[in-house]
Amino acid sequence: MKAIEIRNKYLNFFKNHGHKVIPSSRLIPENDPSVLFTTAGMQPLVPYLLGEKHPEGKRLTDYQKCLRTNDIDEVGDNRHLTYFEMLGNWSLGDYFKEESIAMSFEFLTKELGIPVEKLSVTCFAGDEDAPKDTTAAECWKKAGIPEERIYFYGKDDNWWIAGEEGPCGTDTEIFYDTGKPACSDNCGPACDCGKYVEIWNNVFLEYYKTKEGTYTQLKQRNVDTGLGLERMTMLLQGKQTPFDTELFAPVMEQLKKLAKEDRIESRRIVAEHMRASMMIILDGGRPSNIDRGYVLRKLIRRMARHLNKLQIDLSELSNLIELNVQTLKEMYPELEECKETIKQVIIEEKDKFMKTLAHGEKEFEKQIAKAKQENKNVIDGQTIFKLYETYGFPPEITADLAEEQGFKIDLSEFENLFKEHQQKSRMGSEQKFKGGLAEQNEKTIAYHTATHLLHKALQIVLGEHAKQSGSNITVERLRFDFSHPEKMTKEQLKQVEDIVNEQIARDLTVTCEEMTLEEAKDSGAMGLFENKYGEKVKVYTIGDFSKEICGGPHVTHTGELGHFRIKKEESSSAGVRRIKAVLEE
Ligand code: ALA
Repeated sequence: MKAIEIRNKYLNFFKNHGHKVIPSSRLIPENDPSVLFTTAGMQPLVPYLLGEKHPEGKRLTDYQKCLRTNDIDEVGDNRHLTYFEMLGNWSLGDYFKEESIAMSFEFLTKELGIPVEKLSVTCFAGDEDAPKDTTAAECWKKAGIPEERIYFYGKDDNWWIAGEEGPCGTDTEIFYDTGKPACSDNCGPACDCGKYVEIWNNVFLEYYKTKEGTYTQLKQRNVDTGLGLERMTMLLQGKQTPFDTELFAPVMEQLKKLAKEDRIESRRIVAEHMRASMMIILDGGRPSNIDRGYVLRKLIRRMARHLNKLQIDLSELSNLIELNVQTLKEMYPELEECKETIKQVIIEEKDKFMKTLAHGEKEFEKQIAKAKQENKNVIDGQTIFKLYETYGFPPEITADLAEEQGFKIDLSEFENLFKEHQQKSRMGSEQKFKGGLAEQNEKTIAYHTATHLLHKALQIVLGEHAKQSGSNITVERLRFDFSHPEKMTKEQLKQVEDIVNEQIARDLTVTCEEMTLEEAKDSGAMGLFENKYGEKVKVYTIGDFSKEICGGPHVTHTGELGHFRIKKEESSSAGVRRIKAVLEE
C-alpha cells in the first residue's frame, strides 16, 4: 500500500466514524512563537482541547505536516526523520478511551489488514499524578489483544505532553512486532532493540500541566492520536527503512547513480534534508541565523556537505529538487506551484555556504597549524565559535574536519557561547517587533546596520577624517552626514558602494556587547563618544569589518540587508558632505 493510500484510508475511516476532515496546518505555527515548527497534530488544536468550540464539531481528523529537530543529528541511520506526516483523530470532549481504542484496533486490523498477533500495546502504570490505566487495558482486551501483550510503563513511556506546559495525560501506545527475535528476557515494547516499532499513540488529554509543574483537570476529556505515516508505510510494505519506500526511493536511486562514493548515510541525509527543507520553504520558512531560519540553514548546509561527500556536483541540485517534487506531488500538490522558489532558496543558500566554506577552511587550517605548534590535540570552544561567528563556519563541519585531522573538539564550550549569542540575537529581534509596525521597524533596522557599513566604507575610501556628523533614517532611505572637504568622485562613490555590498554578500554576523566607554575606545570602536566616562555603552560588531558604539537595534546578519545603492552625494554644510542611499530587494 502506498503512503497516499494509507492516508486516504485513514481519513475516510474516521470520516465514516463521524469525524470532519480538517486541512493540515502550516509547518510553521501561526501565532505561536513558543515553538519553532509544528511537531504534532494536536498543536494547532490546543485552544479547542482547552474548551473553545471548534467550528467543525467535536470529532476531527487530519494529516499534519510535522518537523522535529531534536534528532536532526541522528538522521542517516535507518529510521530517523526530521520531517514526517502525522495522521491524527481527535475527540474534543466527545468519545474517550473505549471508543478510541476500538476504532484504532478496527482500523489497523480491518482496514490495513495487520494480523492481531503483530500488535502489542502499552498503558500507564500509575503514579502520584494519575492512577494506573486499567480502563485502557480492559478496552484492549475487549478489542482482542491478549493480556500478555499488554504492558504497563511509567511517565517516561506512557504520558504525553508537548513541551513543558499544556494539556497532557496518560497514553496508550500501539507497537508492531517486526518478528525479530527478542534481545533478552526483558525485551518488550519499551526496548529499542528494533523488535518492536511504535506505530500509533492514543493520548487521553484530561490534565493541564502548569508552568509550576502542577496538574489541574481540564474542562473536558479529550482524545488526541498520532500515527506516523512514513513508518506505517515502511512496515506495511515490508521495507527495512522509510528510505526504501516510494517517498524516498526515486531520489535515493538517483543519488546512488550520481555518487562516486558509496555512502548510504550521506544519501539518506541528502534525501531527508532535501525533503524537509522543501516542506519548510513551501510553508514560508527562509534561511537565517536564528531559530527556525537556522534549522533550515542547517538542513540545507548539511545536505550540501553530504552531496560533497558523495562527490556529486552541486549543479545537480536543481534536478534533484525537481525529482523530489515529482515524487512528492501526489501527496503535496502545492509543491509544484512553489518549486521555482524552493529551488532558488536552496541554491542561493548553497552558494552562500560554498563561499563561507572557502573562507572558513582557510581560517580553520590556520587554527589547526596553531594548535599543532602549541602541541594541543583539542580545538577549543572559543575557536569553534570564532569560526562560526566571523566566517559562518558551522560547528559540525569544524568537528568533521578536526576529526579528519585527528583533533578532538570542545563542543560543550561552543554550545554555551552559542546559546549566549542566540539570546542576544533574540533580544534584538524582540526589540525589533516591540510596538509599531514590524515591517517598518525591519526596514529602519536594516538601514541602521547599513549606516554602520557605510561609515566604515567611507573611512576606508576617503580616510579616517570621514567621521559621522549626523544620521537620519526613514523606512525609505538612510541619510548620512560626514566630514569631508570636497565633493566625492564617481569612482569613490562606486568604491564605497562596492565595499558595502561586499560586506552584505559576506553575510557577516552582527553581535552586541556591553562595556564601559573606556573599554569601547580601547577595543577600537568608532563612535561619537558623547557618552560620559564610566558609563556602559553598547558596541555593535559586524563580522571583522566594523565596530561601533551604538544603541541598536541591528539586523543579526548583513545578508538580510539587500542591495545597497547610493542615490545622491551633496554638500550639507561647510566641510560636511551628505549621502542618501537605499537598500533594494
Ligand atoms: N500528540 C501525540 C503524539 O505526538 C499523539 O504522539
